[in-house]
Amino acid sequence: MTIVRSALSRSAGRRLGARYMSADPKVLAGSGVFQGLTDQDRIFTNLYGEQDWRLKDALKRGDYDMTKEIMWMGPDWIVQEIKDSGLRGRGGAGFPSGLKWSFMPKETDGRPSFLVVNADESEPGTCKDREIMRKDPHKLVEGCLIAGFAMRARAAYIYIRGEYFNEAVVLDEAIHEAYSAGLIGKNACGSGYDFDIYLHRGAGAYICGEETALIESLEGKQGKPRLKPPFPAGVGVFGCPSTVTNVETIAVAPTILRRGASWFASFGNENNRGTKLFAISGHVKNPMVVEESMSIPLQELIEKHCKGMRNGWDSLQACIPGGSSVPVLNKALCDEALMEFDDLRAKGSGLGTAAVTMFDNTVDMVGAIRRLSHFYKHESCGQCTPCREGTGWLEDILIRMEKGDADKREIPMLEEISRQIEGHTICALGDAAAWPVQGLVRHFKKDIEDRIDDPEGFDFEAAFQKSWSGDPFANDAWVKEHGAGRTYAA
Ligand SMILES: Cc1cc2nc3c(=O)[nH]c(=O)nc-3n(C[C@H](O)[C@H](O)[C@H](O)COP(=O)(O)O)c2cc1C
Ligand code: SF4
Repeated sequence: MTIVRSALSRSAGRRLGARYMSADPKVLAGSGVFQGLTDQDRIFTNLYGEQDWRLKDALKRGDYDMTKEIMWMGPDWIVQEIKDSGLRGRGGAGFPSGLKWSFMPKETDGRPSFLVVNADESEPGTCKDREIMRKDPHKLVEGCLIAGFAMRARAAYIYIRGEYFNEAVVLDEAIHEAYSAGLIGKNACGSGYDFDIYLHRGAGAYICGEETALIESLEGKQGKPRLKPPFPAGVGVFGCPSTVTNVETIAVAPTILRRGASWFASFGNENNRGTKLFAISGHVKNPMVVEESMSIPLQELIEKHCKGMRNGWDSLQACIPGGSSVPVLNKALCDEALMEFDDLRAKGSGLGTAAVTMFDNTVDMVGAIRRLSHFYKHESCGQCTPCREGTGWLEDILIRMEKGDADKREIPMLEEISRQIEGHTICALGDAAAWPVQGLVRHFKKDIEDRIDDPEGFDFEAAFQKSWSGDPFANDAWVKEHGAGRTYAA
Protein backbone atom coordinates (compact mmCIF):
# COMPACT_ATOMS: atom_id res chain seq x y z
CA MET A 1 0.00 0.00 0.00
CA THR A 2 2.85 2.37 0.85
CA ILE A 3 4.37 1.75 -2.55
CA VAL A 4 1.12 2.51 -4.34
CA ARG A 5 0.60 5.56 -2.19
CA SER A 6 3.97 7.10 -2.85
CA ALA A 7 3.58 6.22 -6.52
CA LEU A 8 0.34 8.16 -6.50
CA SER A 9 1.96 11.09 -4.74
CA ARG A 10 4.90 11.21 -7.16
CA SER A 11 2.66 10.74 -10.12
CA ALA A 12 0.17 13.25 -8.79
CA GLY A 13 2.90 15.79 -8.33
CA ARG A 14 4.18 15.29 -11.86
CA ARG A 15 1.01 14.80 -13.83
CA LEU A 16 -1.35 16.98 -11.92
CA GLY A 17 1.01 19.69 -10.77
CA ALA A 18 0.73 22.33 -13.44
CA ARG A 19 -2.79 21.41 -14.41
CA TYR A 20 -4.44 21.26 -11.02
CA MET A 21 -2.49 23.18 -8.44
CA SER A 22 -3.01 26.80 -7.55
CA ALA A 23 -0.74 29.28 -9.27
CA ASP A 24 0.14 30.86 -5.97
CA PRO A 25 -0.42 28.47 -3.06
CA LYS A 26 0.59 31.19 -0.59
CA VAL A 27 -2.67 32.94 -1.32
CA LEU A 28 -4.57 29.88 -0.17
CA ALA A 29 -3.23 29.67 3.34
CA GLY A 30 -6.60 28.97 4.93
CA SER A 31 -5.80 31.90 7.15
CA GLY A 32 -9.40 32.83 7.67
CA VAL A 33 -9.01 35.74 5.29
CA PHE A 34 -10.95 35.37 2.08
CA GLN A 35 -8.61 35.61 -0.89
CA GLY A 36 -10.92 34.78 -3.77
CA LEU A 37 -10.95 31.70 -5.93
CA THR A 38 -8.89 31.55 -9.08
CA ASP A 39 -10.01 29.60 -12.14
CA GLN A 40 -7.32 26.95 -11.56
CA ASP A 41 -8.93 26.18 -8.23
CA ARG A 42 -12.43 25.64 -9.53
CA ILE A 43 -13.61 22.04 -9.40
CA PHE A 44 -16.55 22.58 -11.77
CA THR A 45 -14.82 23.81 -14.89
CA ASN A 46 -17.83 23.35 -17.16
CA LEU A 47 -20.48 24.93 -14.96
CA TYR A 48 -21.61 27.23 -17.77
CA GLY A 49 -21.63 24.57 -20.46
CA GLU A 50 -18.87 26.11 -22.56
CA GLN A 51 -17.66 22.63 -23.37
CA ASP A 52 -19.61 19.47 -24.08
CA TRP A 53 -20.85 17.49 -21.09
CA ARG A 54 -20.07 14.21 -22.83
CA LEU A 55 -17.26 11.86 -21.89
CA LYS A 56 -14.87 13.06 -24.59
CA ASP A 57 -14.70 16.56 -23.15
CA ALA A 58 -15.03 15.35 -19.56
CA LEU A 59 -11.81 13.37 -20.03
CA LYS A 60 -10.11 16.54 -21.30
CA ARG A 61 -11.26 18.29 -18.14
CA GLY A 62 -9.43 15.68 -16.08
CA ASP A 63 -12.33 13.47 -15.03
CA TYR A 64 -11.41 9.79 -14.50
CA ASP A 65 -7.74 10.73 -14.32
CA MET A 66 -6.08 8.20 -11.99
CA THR A 67 -9.40 6.90 -10.70
CA LYS A 68 -8.00 3.38 -10.58
CA GLU A 69 -4.93 4.51 -8.65
CA ILE A 70 -7.10 6.41 -6.17
CA MET A 71 -9.23 3.30 -5.62
CA TRP A 72 -6.13 1.17 -5.14
CA MET A 73 -5.24 3.37 -2.18
CA GLY A 74 -8.12 1.60 -0.45
CA PRO A 75 -11.43 2.63 1.14
CA ASP A 76 -9.87 3.66 4.46
CA TRP A 77 -7.39 5.99 2.78
CA ILE A 78 -10.17 7.64 0.77
CA VAL A 79 -12.33 8.15 3.85
CA GLN A 80 -9.38 9.60 5.78
CA GLU A 81 -8.56 12.02 2.95
CA ILE A 82 -12.16 13.20 2.85
CA LYS A 83 -12.05 13.66 6.63
CA ASP A 84 -8.77 15.60 6.37
CA SER A 85 -10.16 17.81 3.60
CA GLY A 86 -12.80 19.11 6.00
CA LEU A 87 -15.59 18.47 3.46
CA ARG A 88 -19.01 18.92 5.03
CA GLY A 89 -22.19 17.70 3.35
CA ARG A 90 -23.52 20.09 0.71
CA GLY A 91 -27.16 18.97 1.07
CA GLY A 92 -28.01 21.42 3.84
CA ALA A 93 -27.08 20.04 7.24
CA GLY A 94 -23.30 20.29 6.77
CA PHE A 95 -22.47 16.98 8.47
CA PRO A 96 -18.76 16.03 8.07
CA SER A 97 -18.69 13.79 5.00
CA GLY A 98 -15.70 11.57 5.82
CA LEU A 99 -17.19 10.77 9.20
CA LYS A 100 -20.53 9.94 7.61
CA TRP A 101 -18.91 7.62 5.08
CA SER A 102 -17.04 5.87 7.90
CA PHE A 103 -20.34 4.78 9.50
CA MET A 104 -20.84 2.23 6.73
CA PRO A 105 -20.01 -1.36 7.73
CA LYS A 106 -16.47 -2.54 6.98
CA GLU A 107 -17.48 -6.20 7.05
CA THR A 108 -20.64 -7.41 5.36
CA ASP A 109 -23.20 -9.50 7.23
CA GLY A 110 -24.44 -10.81 3.91
CA ARG A 111 -26.37 -7.69 2.91
CA PRO A 112 -24.96 -5.46 0.16
CA SER A 113 -24.28 -1.79 0.92
CA PHE A 114 -25.54 1.07 -1.23
CA LEU A 115 -24.67 4.67 -1.94
CA VAL A 116 -27.77 6.79 -2.49
CA VAL A 117 -27.25 10.15 -4.16
CA ASN A 118 -29.77 12.82 -3.29
CA ALA A 119 -30.57 14.72 -6.48
CA ASP A 120 -34.04 15.77 -5.37
CA GLU A 121 -33.07 19.46 -5.13
CA SER A 122 -36.50 20.94 -4.43
CA GLU A 123 -35.72 23.65 -1.90
CA PRO A 124 -36.90 27.01 -3.25
CA GLY A 125 -33.90 28.97 -4.52
CA THR A 126 -31.63 25.95 -4.77
CA CYS A 127 -30.45 25.08 -8.28
CA LYS A 128 -26.77 24.10 -7.97
CA ASP A 129 -26.97 20.30 -8.31
CA ARG A 130 -28.88 20.86 -11.52
CA GLU A 131 -25.88 22.60 -13.09
CA ILE A 132 -23.62 19.70 -12.17
CA MET A 133 -25.98 17.13 -13.65
CA ARG A 134 -26.61 18.89 -16.92
CA LYS A 135 -23.20 20.44 -17.59
CA ASP A 136 -20.68 18.21 -15.82
CA PRO A 137 -22.44 14.88 -15.15
CA HIS A 138 -19.28 12.77 -15.27
CA LYS A 139 -18.05 14.49 -12.09
CA LEU A 140 -21.02 12.88 -10.38
CA VAL A 141 -20.61 9.51 -12.10
CA GLU A 142 -16.94 9.28 -11.15
CA GLY A 143 -17.77 10.52 -7.64
CA CYS A 144 -20.32 7.73 -7.25
CA LEU A 145 -17.70 5.14 -8.13
CA ILE A 146 -15.05 6.48 -5.76
CA ALA A 147 -17.39 7.29 -2.85
CA GLY A 148 -19.27 4.03 -3.37
CA PHE A 149 -15.99 2.10 -3.29
CA ALA A 150 -14.96 3.96 -0.12
CA MET A 151 -18.21 2.84 1.50
CA ARG A 152 -17.78 -0.71 0.16
CA ALA A 153 -21.05 -0.22 -1.71
CA ARG A 154 -22.18 -2.55 -4.47
CA ALA A 155 -24.05 0.15 -6.39
CA ALA A 156 -25.27 3.73 -6.34
CA TYR A 157 -28.85 4.88 -6.75
CA ILE A 158 -29.20 8.45 -7.92
CA TYR A 159 -32.64 9.79 -6.98
CA ILE A 160 -33.40 12.76 -9.22
CA ARG A 161 -36.40 15.04 -8.82
CA GLY A 162 -39.18 14.44 -11.32
CA GLU A 163 -39.11 17.93 -12.79
CA TYR A 164 -35.44 17.55 -13.80
CA PHE A 165 -36.35 15.76 -17.00
CA ASN A 166 -33.56 17.14 -19.19
CA GLU A 167 -31.02 16.66 -16.43
CA ALA A 168 -32.12 13.03 -16.07
CA VAL A 169 -31.70 12.50 -19.83
CA VAL A 170 -28.16 13.93 -19.76
CA LEU A 171 -27.19 12.03 -16.64
CA ASP A 172 -28.61 8.78 -17.99
CA GLU A 173 -26.58 9.22 -21.15
CA ALA A 174 -23.44 9.97 -19.12
CA ILE A 175 -23.98 6.76 -17.13
CA HIS A 176 -24.32 4.80 -20.39
CA GLU A 177 -21.14 6.40 -21.74
CA ALA A 178 -19.28 5.41 -18.58
CA TYR A 179 -20.53 1.81 -18.87
CA SER A 180 -19.50 1.61 -22.54
CA ALA A 181 -16.02 2.91 -21.74
CA GLY A 182 -15.57 0.42 -18.90
CA LEU A 183 -15.44 3.21 -16.32
CA ILE A 184 -18.27 1.70 -14.27
CA GLY A 185 -19.80 -1.77 -14.27
CA LYS A 186 -17.60 -4.85 -14.14
CA ASN A 187 -13.98 -4.08 -13.25
CA ALA A 188 -14.73 -0.36 -13.13
CA CYS A 189 -11.83 1.72 -14.52
CA GLY A 190 -9.72 -1.46 -14.48
CA SER A 191 -9.67 -1.35 -10.69
CA GLY A 192 -10.93 -4.89 -10.20
CA TYR A 193 -14.05 -3.51 -8.47
CA ASP A 194 -17.57 -4.03 -9.83
CA PHE A 195 -19.89 -1.08 -9.40
CA ASP A 196 -23.29 -0.21 -10.90
CA ILE A 197 -25.16 3.08 -11.05
CA TYR A 198 -28.95 3.34 -11.34
CA LEU A 199 -30.83 6.53 -12.05
CA HIS A 200 -34.27 6.78 -10.45
CA ARG A 201 -36.71 9.59 -11.21
CA GLY A 202 -38.90 10.90 -8.40
CA ALA A 203 -42.33 12.42 -8.90
CA GLY A 204 -41.56 15.93 -7.69
CA ALA A 205 -42.17 16.04 -3.94
CA TYR A 206 -39.93 18.24 -1.76
CA ILE A 207 -40.22 15.82 1.16
CA CYS A 208 -38.55 13.10 -0.94
CA GLY A 209 -35.30 15.06 -0.46
CA GLU A 210 -35.37 14.09 3.21
CA GLU A 211 -33.09 11.09 3.30
CA THR A 212 -35.44 8.49 4.77
CA ALA A 213 -38.42 9.70 2.70
CA LEU A 214 -36.15 9.37 -0.31
CA ILE A 215 -35.37 5.78 0.67
CA GLU A 216 -39.08 5.00 1.06
CA SER A 217 -39.80 6.51 -2.34
CA LEU A 218 -36.93 4.60 -3.91
CA GLU A 219 -38.50 1.42 -2.54
CA GLY A 220 -41.74 2.31 -4.32
CA LYS A 221 -43.65 3.57 -1.29
CA GLN A 222 -45.05 6.99 -0.38
CA GLY A 223 -42.24 9.41 0.42
CA LYS A 224 -42.78 9.69 4.16
CA PRO A 225 -39.79 10.08 6.50
CA ARG A 226 -38.91 7.21 8.82
CA LEU A 227 -38.28 7.49 12.52
CA LYS A 228 -34.57 7.26 13.35
CA PRO A 229 -32.94 5.08 14.64
CA PRO A 230 -32.28 2.86 12.84
CA PHE A 231 -30.13 5.16 10.73
CA PRO A 232 -29.62 4.42 7.02
CA ALA A 233 -26.04 3.22 7.61
CA GLY A 234 -27.60 0.31 9.56
CA VAL A 235 -30.93 -0.13 7.75
CA GLY A 236 -31.27 1.94 4.59
CA VAL A 237 -32.62 1.22 1.15
CA PHE A 238 -34.11 -2.29 0.74
CA GLY A 239 -33.13 -2.94 4.37
CA CYS A 240 -29.42 -2.69 3.54
CA PRO A 241 -26.69 -0.37 4.86
CA SER A 242 -26.88 2.89 2.90
CA THR A 243 -25.52 6.41 2.89
CA VAL A 244 -27.65 9.18 1.42
CA THR A 245 -25.61 12.12 0.28
CA ASN A 246 -25.94 15.20 -1.87
CA VAL A 247 -24.90 15.49 -5.54
CA GLU A 248 -22.32 18.23 -4.92
CA THR A 249 -20.77 16.36 -1.99
CA ILE A 250 -20.17 13.34 -4.22
CA ALA A 251 -19.15 15.32 -7.31
CA VAL A 252 -16.32 17.16 -5.53
CA ALA A 253 -14.79 14.01 -4.04
CA PRO A 254 -12.66 12.85 -7.03
CA THR A 255 -11.02 16.26 -7.41
CA ILE A 256 -10.29 16.46 -3.69
CA LEU A 257 -8.59 13.07 -3.87
CA ARG A 258 -6.59 14.02 -6.98
CA ARG A 259 -5.43 17.36 -5.65
CA GLY A 260 -5.11 16.36 -2.02
CA ALA A 261 -7.01 17.03 1.18
CA SER A 262 -4.75 19.95 2.10
CA TRP A 263 -5.54 21.74 -1.17
CA PHE A 264 -9.28 21.64 -0.43
CA ALA A 265 -8.72 22.49 3.23
CA SER A 266 -6.77 25.58 2.22
CA PHE A 267 -10.00 27.43 1.37
CA GLY A 268 -12.31 28.95 3.92
CA ASN A 269 -12.11 29.26 7.66
CA GLU A 270 -11.49 26.50 10.19
CA ASN A 271 -14.41 24.05 10.21
CA ASN A 272 -15.76 25.58 6.97
CA ARG A 273 -13.32 24.31 4.40
CA GLY A 274 -13.32 24.04 0.66
CA THR A 275 -14.90 25.53 -2.40
CA LYS A 276 -18.67 25.70 -2.72
CA LEU A 277 -21.35 26.26 -5.32
CA PHE A 278 -23.50 29.29 -4.53
CA ALA A 279 -26.86 29.69 -6.32
CA ILE A 280 -27.69 33.39 -6.23
CA SER A 281 -31.10 34.76 -7.17
CA GLY A 282 -33.34 37.69 -6.39
CA HIS A 283 -32.67 41.38 -6.92
CA VAL A 284 -29.13 41.14 -8.20
CA LYS A 285 -28.11 42.30 -11.65
CA ASN A 286 -26.79 38.93 -12.72
CA PRO A 287 -28.31 35.91 -10.95
CA MET A 288 -26.07 32.89 -11.26
CA VAL A 289 -24.59 29.70 -9.88
CA VAL A 290 -20.91 30.18 -9.12
CA GLU A 291 -18.17 28.22 -7.40
CA GLU A 292 -16.35 30.26 -4.77
CA SER A 293 -14.27 29.80 -1.67
CA MET A 294 -16.17 29.07 1.51
CA SER A 295 -16.16 32.01 3.95
CA ILE A 296 -16.36 34.63 1.20
CA PRO A 297 -18.18 37.72 2.54
CA LEU A 298 -21.74 37.89 1.24
CA GLN A 299 -21.29 41.40 -0.13
CA GLU A 300 -18.15 40.38 -2.01
CA LEU A 301 -19.92 37.37 -3.50
CA ILE A 302 -22.72 39.58 -4.79
CA GLU A 303 -20.51 42.42 -6.04
CA LYS A 304 -17.91 40.17 -7.64
CA HIS A 305 -20.14 37.70 -9.46
CA CYS A 306 -23.62 39.19 -9.70
CA LYS A 307 -22.59 42.75 -10.55
CA GLY A 308 -24.21 43.87 -7.31
CA MET A 309 -27.80 44.55 -6.29
CA ARG A 310 -29.92 45.94 -9.12
CA ASN A 311 -30.23 49.27 -7.24
CA GLY A 312 -26.95 49.13 -5.32
CA TRP A 313 -25.97 47.50 -2.02
CA ASP A 314 -27.77 50.14 0.03
CA SER A 315 -31.09 49.05 -1.47
CA LEU A 316 -30.67 45.66 0.23
CA GLN A 317 -33.44 44.86 2.67
CA ALA A 318 -32.90 41.18 3.47
CA CYS A 319 -31.22 37.98 2.39
CA ILE A 320 -32.04 34.31 2.78
CA PRO A 321 -28.50 32.91 2.60
CA GLY A 322 -29.03 29.14 2.45
CA GLY A 323 -32.23 28.13 0.73
CA SER A 324 -35.76 28.93 1.88
CA SER A 325 -35.47 26.89 5.09
CA VAL A 326 -32.99 29.13 6.85
CA PRO A 327 -33.99 32.30 8.70
CA VAL A 328 -33.86 35.58 6.82
CA LEU A 329 -31.14 38.13 7.71
CA ASN A 330 -31.58 41.90 7.78
CA LYS A 331 -29.21 44.32 6.04
CA ALA A 332 -27.05 45.01 9.09
CA LEU A 333 -26.27 41.30 9.41
CA CYS A 334 -25.79 40.92 5.65
CA ASP A 335 -23.14 43.68 5.73
CA GLU A 336 -21.00 41.49 7.99
CA ALA A 337 -22.00 37.99 6.88
CA LEU A 338 -19.48 35.39 5.74
CA MET A 339 -20.79 32.60 3.55
CA GLU A 340 -19.94 29.69 5.83
CA PHE A 341 -21.67 27.39 8.29
CA ASP A 342 -20.36 28.94 11.51
CA ASP A 343 -20.68 32.66 10.83
CA LEU A 344 -24.20 32.38 9.44
CA ARG A 345 -25.20 30.23 12.38
CA ALA A 346 -23.80 32.82 14.78
CA LYS A 347 -25.95 35.40 12.99
CA GLY A 348 -29.08 33.32 13.57
CA SER A 349 -29.31 31.77 10.10
CA GLY A 350 -27.43 29.04 8.24
CA LEU A 351 -25.49 28.14 5.09
CA GLY A 352 -28.00 25.38 4.24
CA THR A 353 -27.71 24.66 0.54
CA ALA A 354 -25.92 28.00 -0.12
CA ALA A 355 -28.84 29.19 -2.24
CA VAL A 356 -28.70 32.93 -1.70
CA THR A 357 -31.87 34.96 -2.30
CA MET A 358 -31.41 38.74 -2.18
CA PHE A 359 -34.37 41.03 -1.45
CA ASP A 360 -34.22 44.74 -2.10
CA ASN A 361 -36.34 47.34 -0.36
CA THR A 362 -39.24 46.98 -2.80
CA VAL A 363 -40.16 43.63 -1.27
CA ASP A 364 -43.00 43.11 1.16
CA MET A 365 -41.20 40.76 3.56
CA VAL A 366 -44.42 39.65 5.25
CA GLY A 367 -45.76 38.57 1.87
CA ALA A 368 -42.49 36.87 0.94
CA ILE A 369 -42.45 34.72 4.08
CA ARG A 370 -46.18 34.07 3.77
CA ARG A 371 -45.46 32.63 0.34
CA LEU A 372 -42.80 30.32 1.80
CA SER A 373 -45.23 29.22 4.51
CA HIS A 374 -47.63 28.16 1.78
CA PHE A 375 -44.89 26.02 0.26
CA TYR A 376 -44.13 24.21 3.54
CA LYS A 377 -47.81 23.63 4.26
CA HIS A 378 -48.22 22.18 0.79
CA GLU A 379 -45.17 19.92 1.11
CA SER A 380 -45.80 18.58 4.64
CA CYS A 381 -46.30 14.81 4.41
CA GLY A 382 -48.81 14.98 7.26
CA GLN A 383 -47.38 12.32 9.58
CA CYS A 384 -46.67 14.61 12.55
CA THR A 385 -49.43 16.75 14.10
CA PRO A 386 -47.25 19.84 14.80
CA CYS A 387 -46.12 19.97 11.18
CA ARG A 388 -49.40 18.97 9.54
CA GLU A 389 -51.51 21.41 11.54
CA GLY A 390 -48.90 24.03 12.46
CA THR A 391 -47.75 24.78 8.91
CA GLY A 392 -51.36 25.60 8.02
CA TRP A 393 -51.76 27.83 11.08
CA LEU A 394 -48.58 29.72 10.20
CA GLU A 395 -49.85 30.36 6.70
CA ASP A 396 -53.35 31.35 7.87
CA ILE A 397 -51.99 33.92 10.32
CA LEU A 398 -49.51 35.30 7.79
CA ILE A 399 -52.24 35.65 5.14
CA ARG A 400 -54.13 37.90 7.54
CA MET A 401 -51.00 39.74 8.70
CA GLU A 402 -50.06 40.52 5.12
CA LYS A 403 -53.34 42.38 4.77
CA GLY A 404 -53.10 43.96 8.22
CA ASP A 405 -56.13 41.94 9.30
CA ALA A 406 -54.56 40.76 12.57
CA ASP A 407 -54.00 41.70 16.19
CA LYS A 408 -50.53 42.61 17.43
CA ARG A 409 -50.93 39.96 20.15
CA GLU A 410 -50.84 37.39 17.35
CA ILE A 411 -47.19 38.19 16.61
CA PRO A 412 -45.86 36.34 19.70
CA MET A 413 -48.52 33.71 19.06
CA LEU A 414 -47.13 33.21 15.55
CA GLU A 415 -43.66 32.75 16.96
CA GLU A 416 -44.93 30.40 19.68
CA ILE A 417 -46.56 28.15 17.06
CA SER A 418 -43.26 28.02 15.16
CA ARG A 419 -41.46 27.02 18.39
CA GLN A 420 -44.00 24.26 18.97
CA ILE A 421 -43.26 22.86 15.51
CA GLU A 422 -39.47 23.22 15.67
CA GLY A 423 -37.81 20.12 17.12
CA HIS A 424 -41.13 18.31 17.69
CA THR A 425 -41.40 16.40 14.44
CA ILE A 426 -40.03 13.28 12.75
CA CYS A 427 -38.04 15.18 10.16
CA ALA A 428 -36.52 18.62 9.65
CA LEU A 429 -39.31 19.87 7.37
CA GLY A 430 -40.96 21.08 10.57
CA ASP A 431 -37.88 23.16 11.42
CA ALA A 432 -37.68 24.35 7.81
CA ALA A 433 -41.24 25.66 8.08
CA ALA A 434 -40.61 27.31 11.46
CA TRP A 435 -37.32 29.10 10.80
CA PRO A 436 -38.36 31.54 8.04
CA VAL A 437 -41.25 32.69 10.27
CA GLN A 438 -38.91 33.11 13.23
CA GLY A 439 -36.55 35.18 11.06
CA LEU A 440 -39.47 37.38 10.01
CA VAL A 441 -40.54 38.05 13.59
CA ARG A 442 -36.93 38.63 14.69
CA HIS A 443 -36.03 41.19 12.03
CA PHE A 444 -39.27 42.47 10.50
CA LYS A 445 -41.65 42.66 13.45
CA LYS A 446 -42.06 46.38 12.85
CA ASP A 447 -43.25 45.70 9.29
CA ILE A 448 -45.99 43.44 10.66
CA GLU A 449 -46.98 46.02 13.28
CA ASP A 450 -47.04 48.85 10.72
CA ARG A 451 -49.30 46.77 8.47
CA ILE A 452 -51.68 46.09 11.36
CA ASP A 453 -51.67 49.81 12.26
CA ASP A 454 -52.33 50.86 8.68
CA PRO A 455 -53.98 48.11 6.61
CA GLU A 456 -55.12 50.65 4.01
CA GLY A 457 -51.50 51.59 3.37
CA PHE A 458 -50.91 48.16 1.86
CA ASP A 459 -50.88 48.19 -1.93
CA PHE A 460 -51.05 44.57 -3.06
CA GLU A 461 -50.34 45.41 -6.70
CA ALA A 462 -47.20 47.33 -5.78
CA ALA A 463 -45.99 44.66 -3.40
CA PHE A 464 -46.69 41.67 -5.65
CA GLN A 465 -43.39 40.25 -6.76
CA LYS A 466 -43.32 38.80 -10.22
CA SER A 467 -40.87 35.99 -10.85
CA TRP A 468 -38.97 38.22 -13.26
CA SER A 469 -38.83 41.97 -12.79
CA GLY A 470 -38.66 42.66 -16.51
CA ASP A 471 -35.29 44.38 -16.14
CA PRO A 472 -32.79 43.50 -18.89
CA PHE A 473 -30.26 40.86 -17.92
CA ALA A 474 -26.76 42.18 -17.28
CA ASN A 475 -25.03 39.30 -19.04
CA ASP A 476 -26.09 40.20 -22.57
CA ALA A 477 -22.45 40.36 -23.69
CA TRP A 478 -21.86 36.82 -22.45
CA VAL A 479 -25.00 35.56 -24.22
CA LYS A 480 -23.88 37.25 -27.43
CA GLU A 481 -20.50 35.55 -27.24
CA HIS A 482 -21.59 32.09 -26.14
CA GLY A 483 -25.28 31.91 -27.00
CA ALA A 484 -24.79 30.45 -30.51
CA GLY A 485 -27.01 33.14 -31.98
CA ARG A 486 -29.82 32.60 -29.48
CA THR A 487 -31.17 35.31 -27.18
CA TYR A 488 -33.51 35.31 -24.20
CA ALA A 489 -36.36 36.14 -26.52
CA ALA A 490 -35.61 33.34 -28.98
C1 LIG B 1 -37.58 18.34 3.82
C2 LIG B 1 -36.16 18.08 3.46
C3 LIG B 1 -35.77 18.15 2.13
C4 LIG B 1 -34.44 17.89 1.78
N1 LIG B 1 -34.09 17.97 0.47
C5 LIG B 1 -32.82 17.68 0.12
C6 LIG B 1 -32.43 17.70 -1.25
O1 LIG B 1 -33.23 17.99 -2.14
N2 LIG B 1 -31.15 17.40 -1.55
C7 LIG B 1 -30.23 17.06 -0.59
O2 LIG B 1 -29.09 16.77 -0.91
N3 LIG B 1 -30.58 17.04 0.71
C8 LIG B 1 -31.84 17.33 1.08
N4 LIG B 1 -32.19 17.25 2.40
C9 LIG B 1 -31.17 16.81 3.37
C10 LIG B 1 -31.09 15.29 3.37
O3 LIG B 1 -32.01 14.77 4.30
C11 LIG B 1 -29.69 14.80 3.76
O4 LIG B 1 -29.31 15.42 4.95
C12 LIG B 1 -28.65 15.09 2.70
O5 LIG B 1 -29.00 14.54 1.46
C13 LIG B 1 -27.33 14.53 3.14
O6 LIG B 1 -26.33 14.80 2.18
P1 LIG B 1 -24.96 15.48 2.58
O7 LIG B 1 -24.42 14.73 3.76
O8 LIG B 1 -24.13 15.34 1.37
O9 LIG B 1 -25.28 16.91 2.92
C14 LIG B 1 -33.50 17.54 2.78
C15 LIG B 1 -33.90 17.48 4.11
C16 LIG B 1 -35.21 17.75 4.44
C17 LIG B 1 -35.63 17.67 5.87
S1 SF4 C 1 -42.11 16.96 9.99
FE1 SF4 C 1 -43.74 17.23 8.49
S2 SF4 C 1 -42.86 16.43 6.60
FE2 SF4 C 1 -41.57 15.65 8.27
S3 SF4 C 1 -42.44 13.67 8.79
FE3 SF4 C 1 -43.46 15.16 10.09
S4 SF4 C 1 -45.32 15.74 8.96
FE4 SF4 C 1 -43.96 14.74 7.52
